[in-house]
Amino acid sequence: MHHFHYRDGTLHAEDVPLTNIAAEVGTPFYCYSTATLERHYRVFAEAFEGTDTLVCYSVKANSNLAVIKTLGDLGSGADIVSEGELRRALAAGIPPERIVFSGVGKQAPELAFALETGIHQFNVESEPELELLSQIASGMGKEAAIALRVNPDVDAKTHEKITTGKAENKFGISWLQAPRVYARAAELPGIKVAGVDVHIGSQLTDLAPFEEAFTRVASMVEELRAAGHDITRLDLGGGLGIPYRGTNDVPPPPADYAAMVKRTVGHLDCQLMFEPGRMIAGNAGILVVNVIFEKHGEDRSFLIIDGAMNDLIRPTLYDAYHDIQPVTETAPGEPRITYDIVGPICETGDFFAKGRALSAQKPGDLLAVLSAGAYGAVQASTYNTRPLVPEVMVNGSQFTVIRPRPSYDAMLEQDRLPDWLTK
Ligand code: LLP
Repeated sequence: MHHFHYRDGTLHAEDVPLTNIAAEVGTPFYCYSTATLERHYRVFAEAFEGTDTLVCYSVKANSNLAVIKTLGDLGSGADIVSEGELRRALAAGIPPERIVFSGVGKQAPELAFALETGIHQFNVESEPELELLSQIASGMGKEAAIALRVNPDVDAKTHEKITTGKAENKFGISWLQAPRVYARAAELPGIKVAGVDVHIGSQLTDLAPFEEAFTRVASMVEELRAAGHDITRLDLGGGLGIPYRGTNDVPPPPADYAAMVKRTVGHLDCQLMFEPGRMIAGNAGILVVNVIFEKHGEDRSFLIIDGAMNDLIRPTLYDAYHDIQPVTETAPGEPRITYDIVGPICETGDFFAKGRALSAQKPGDLLAVLSAGAYGAVQASTYNTRPLVPEVMVNGSQFTVIRPRPSYDAMLEQDRLPDWLTK
């Protein structure tokens, strides 16, 4: 469910016509809907009502301060993977006791900063990280509450670049080695064993892999408790998929996911932590682009748009499908043209969609690339010296720029000429 709908023939974000934003901000731009963000957070959190739950929005999906604060104001915590994300979460007002630090390569200064801040939990992904955290924490006279991220060797059946819970993936500690590493953690100074963490991948559209992983985690918790560890928290990660093709692919609703969670781990009486990213932000954002040219080749037609792979890399990186809708509603019976929708970047991989049937588009027409709220703006680059796309947030009938488009001067000022070139 999202709040991008046609009204009087024009696509709106909540109550704002996208044409109004385009006129003020220019294209391309990302546009986020507050009502959608809030709805997704609530649907997820409410599915666990009555259980001791901490929902830590996975900041990597969309780390704009306005997005984090919108969710934080509803009670969300934050799942962070770097000092930068931690600083964002704090700047957005997320209390440290609702922050969990994930990631496979945490560095000493990041760990020290997180300890200083007093975050809720470190999800430790390797023995060297455990030793480093112990050393830093004990040196600071602090105690770090930890979970080991276990790798349950479960196939998440998602795109190979976003699967994380197989033995061959770099993530976590093998579930076979975990009992030994927990024993080590228990004897280390500055470390307090608190829980078990698992995250098997992203954009999962089937509950079965989750169920397999959580069942494995449940028996591990019992084994760890029998060995004397005080396991009071379970972090079950993120990964719940979203519909990218309207009603044609409908992933399990949060209520079904919650029922499965309760079925597999409910009896353990742990605090349940979650790290949803895409499920909250994905369908709460779109990318609005402008048609530059319509070009008819030998055997296909191209729409060349002003958005490109540097702005939204998902189609070329993960073969991701994003629905694309004209901002001006297509009239019933209007003929369709099959287009390849491509950007201006000098790479064949610079496309948003191939063979997509749309009403005839002409230069200046606006298109909305849907489901771009997660892993869109955060994965953007300035390749081809294209300014980062601005981000706009809508709330009812209001909209505001939550990250402006940088000027070319600001971009060029980032570079420095060495002395030997300026003499
Ligand atoms: N927790 C951990 C430890 C993660 O690695 C991730 C995502 C999440 C939570 C959030 O997962 P979600 O609920 O969003 O599925 N750039 C890719 C997705 C990469 C996901 C990385 N980790 C894409 O555009 O599909």
